[in-house]
Amino acid sequence: MAKKTTKTQQSKRDFLYLTAASTGAVGVAAFGWAFIDSMNPAADTLALASTEVNIAPIEPGQAITVMWRGKPVFIRRRTPEEIEKARNADLSTMRDPQSDTDRIVDGKDEWLVVVGICTHLGCVPLGQKPAEIKGEYGGWFCPCHGSHYDSSGRIRKGPAPTNLKVPDYEFISDTVIKIG
Ligand code: FES
Repeated sequence: MAKKTTKTQQSKRDFLYLTAASTGAVGVAAFGWAFIDSMNPAADTLALASTEVNIAPIEPGQAITVMWRGKPVFIRRRTPEEIEKARNADLSTMRDPQSDTDRIVDGKDEWLVVVGICTHLGCVPLGQKPAEIKGEYGGWFCPCHGSHYDSSGRIRKGPAPTNLKVPDYEFISDTVIKIG
């Protein structure tokens, strides 16, 4: 005759399964780390790594984040208003003065590409998603200690000492960029 399982027995059994599964996962993780670490590329190979990104689907006002050498890179297609603001900003009021034209490549004013790491203590700033706060200067806002970056990724307010870094990149076609 089939034995009936009560709810309590069932949840006890689920707990045992879960415990066994997590112990197994820790074991695999511990073993996996040594294995994966031994497969990591040498530092010089990593330094050469580049990544190609198709930017065709990005509409004006939108942004995407890609990973490059383990870091987030923000790619924003700026609106005419964002470009104008970045161009007309007063460099004499900036902590790390740099003209907007020096932060874009190949005369592609719409496209801003910056490493998405706050130059204060390394948080990832907000402002990539439409619903996220972009700070007082319409670029990015780092909530860790309140740094505000403008639509050129330049530091305008808060403790960060320098602008968001522009990585080496180039357009290999109108719709593809190569970072690194
Ligand atoms: S890490 Fe961004 S403000 Fe401190």
